[in-house]
Amino acid sequence: VSDRDSIPLVLFGASGLLGGEVIRLLEFHPALVLHAAATREGGALAASHPHLATLRAVAGTFAAAEAAVLRLAREGRRVAIAYALPHGESAPRWKALREALAEHASRVYVADLAADYRLADVAAHRRVYGAEHADAAGLEEFVYGLPELGREPLREARRVAVAGCFATAMQLAVLPAARRGLLDPSRPIALAGVTGSSGSGAKPLPGTHHPHRAGNLYAYSLTGHRHEAELEQSLSRHGAAHGAIHFVPHSGPFVRGIHLTAFLPLAAESQGEAAREAYAADYAAEPFVEVLESGLPDLRRVAGSNRVCLTAAPRGSLLTVCLTLDNVVKGGAGQALQCLNLMLGCDEAAGLPRCGLGVNG
Ligand SMILES: NC(=O)c1ccc[n+]([C@@H]2O[C@H](COP(=O)([O-])OP(=O)(O)OC[C@H]3O[C@@H](n4cnc5c(N)ncnc54)[C@H](OP(=O)(O)O)[C@@H]3O)[C@@H](O)[C@H]2O)c1
Repeated sequence: VSDRDSIPLVLFGASGLLGGEVIRLLEFHPALVLHAAATREGGALAASHPHLATLRAVAGTFAAAEAAVLRLAREGRRVAIAYALPHGESAPRWKALREALAEHASRVYVADLAADYRLADVAAHRRVYGAEHADAAGLEEFVYGLPELGREPLREARRVAVAGCFATAMQLAVLPAARRGLLDPSRPIALAGVTGSSGSGAKPLPGTHHPHRAGNLYAYSLTGHRHEAELEQSLSRHGAAHGAIHFVPHSGPFVRGIHLTAFLPLAAESQGEAAREAYAADYAAEPFVEVLESGLPDLRRVAGSNRVCLTAAPRGSLLTVCLTLDNVVKGGAGQALQCLNLMLGCDEAAGLPRCGLGVNG
C-alpha cells in the first residue's frame, strides 16, 4: 500500500504479549501499518519480541505516541489506536487524548484490549472491578467487540472494547442455545475453562511462571471470575433467560490457547437436536468459527490462528459444548484486528490467519 492508502496504527503497550501479537499480525495486513509503538520507558522492541524479525522499531514514550495521533488526525488522516495495557490504564489515557483531539476524535479508531470499556453499566463495572470508572462519559461510544455476536454495530463504530479471552469462549459456547430460549433458567449454566500461560501476560508472577505451571494443572477463582459479567451482559442484551452462571477457570501447562467446556441445561430433553443445530446455523457463514463435523476441538487446531473450533453434543437434558481458541489471537490481538477491520471498512479477515501452527508450547 502507498502511504496515502495505508492506515497508521499507534500501539500502546508494545512490549507486552498482546502488543507483540498485534505487531506480528500487522505484518500480514494489507492496509494497517504500525506507525508508532509505545512503552512506558521506550527502547528497542526487539528485546521484548526477538521473534519479530522484521521489526526495526524502537518504541517511543506514551507522550510521543499521543503526539503522533494528534498530528495525524489534525492532518485529516484516519488513525487506529490499539491499547494493549493492563486493566485501568487505557480509560484515563483515552479520555485525556480524546479531549485533546476535540473535533478530530472522529478520525480516530480505538481498540481497547483491556477490560476498561467492556461493561457498559458503571455499577456493574464498579462491582466487578472494584473501582469507579475513569471515563464514564466515554463508555457509551464503545461497542462491545465480538463480531460473531454483533457485527453490524462495529461497522459504524469508532471505539471497540474487545471482548475478553475467556469471555469470548463462553459467549460463543452459550449464546446460540440461550438466545433461542432453549436453556432452562431454573438451572445453572456451568462452565470450565483451561487457559495457557500466555493468558497471564509477559511478566512472570510466583503463581503463573514456568516452574509452577509446567506439568501442572489447577483451578482458580472458585468464587467467581470477572469474565462472567461479560457473558451476563451479553445474555441480557440478547434477551436470553438463563440461570446462575458458574465458571471455573484453570491454568494449564501450555502456552497458547483456551479449552472451554460448557454444561448447558436444556429446557427439555426433546430440544437437544434443535440446540445442536443452532450452533451449525449460527456459525455456518462465520469465517473464523467452525463447528466440527468430526473430531473434537483441541488446541492444536487453533494455536496461532484466529480460528475457533467447537462441538455441541446433547445428552439427556444437558448440552455439552466444547470449544477451543487461541487467547492471544481470537481471544485478544486477532479479535482486535477483526473489529478494527470492520470499523475501518477493510475485509474483516484481513491480516488474520485461519490456519493454526499445528503445534503448541
Ligand atoms: N494475554 C492474553 O491472553 C489476553 C487476552 C485478552 C486480553 N488481554 C488483556 O490485554 C491487556 C494486555 O495483556 P498482555 O497479556 O499483553 O499483558 P502484558 O504482557 O503484561 O503487557 C502489558 C503491557 O502494558 C505495559 N504496562 C504494564 N504496566 C503498565 C502501567 N502501569 N502503565 C502503562 N503501561 C503498563 C507493559 O509495558 P512495560 O511494563 O514495558 O511498560 C506491557 O507493554 C491486559 O489488559 C489483558 O487483560 C490479555
